[in-house]
Amino acid sequence: MKQNKINSETILKLINKDIKINNIHIFDEIDSTNEYAKKIDIINDHYDIIISDCQTNGKGRLGRSFYSPSETGLYMSIAFLINPNTFNFVNITSIVSVAVTMAIEKLTNLHIGIKWVNDLYYKDLKIAGILVEGMTNIKDYSTSKIIVGIGINLTTNNFPSNIIDVAGSLNCDVSRNMLISYIINYFDYFYKKSPKEYLNIYKSHSIVIDKNIAFYDNGVIHYGKAVDINNYGELVVLETSGKITILRTGEISIIVKK
Ligand code: BTN
Repeated sequence: MKQNKINSETILKLINKDIKINNIHIFDEIDSTNEYAKKIDIINDHYDIIISDCQTNGKGRLGRSFYSPSETGLYMSIAFLINPNTFNFVNITSIVSVAVTMAIEKLTNLHIGIKWVNDLYYKDLKIAGILVEGMTNIKDYSTSKIIVGIGINLTTNNFPSNIIDVAGSLNCDVSRNMLISYIINYFDYFYKKSPKEYLNIYKSHSIVIDKNIAFYDNGVIHYGKAVDINNYGELVVLETSGKITILRTGEISIIVKK
């Protein structure tokens, strides 16, 4: 299945008119859209969007790589400035998860699950990953550049052997231009709303609540049950020891009974 070509005019036409876009940077090939976003200057109250047909060094969380072959996926970064004193970094990861979930569901009618903190699943396989990075202005600490990296497997198959059991694709013919603009529209919408609005959607799509999970803390493995996502987007875990632990960020594994 061949995906349509990424085109900035088509994307701009579909983006809500009150959203300020400084530039849409489109590449056929790049090392990583997040790395490119780190090098450009960003204007206050504007988004810069970086999109590439493929990535030669796509980055995932925890130093992993993100498989980014040509034509079959969507690889984009949204870069903008925030005031770190008034906006919580953790909230951004929940907002992006919700924005990407809503955009996919609107355009495909598929049901997407969110695995805390920001992996998206379809039919028990990971179909999208999100990497949020922040760079604080060390001169005055009043602005941080935020880079939201989003990778979605649309029709990607033939995954590398290390992810073959966990990675999947939406396997549907969705327009990349529409998906990009819907993601930006939803992201901007929820970014300007109270956390209650997006956390309700986040929780209703969560695939971890009530599941047995494991997580590492300082190299030590902990087991427990994910019982809730609180008003800050943090995961509330009832450990097997009886202790309640709040995870702000990080990675968990869902324990599947065989
Ligand atoms: C993860 O699954 O751990 C996060 C994956 C994030 C991948 C996207 S693709 C676009 C952007 N550029 C990158 O190098 N990474 C992100």
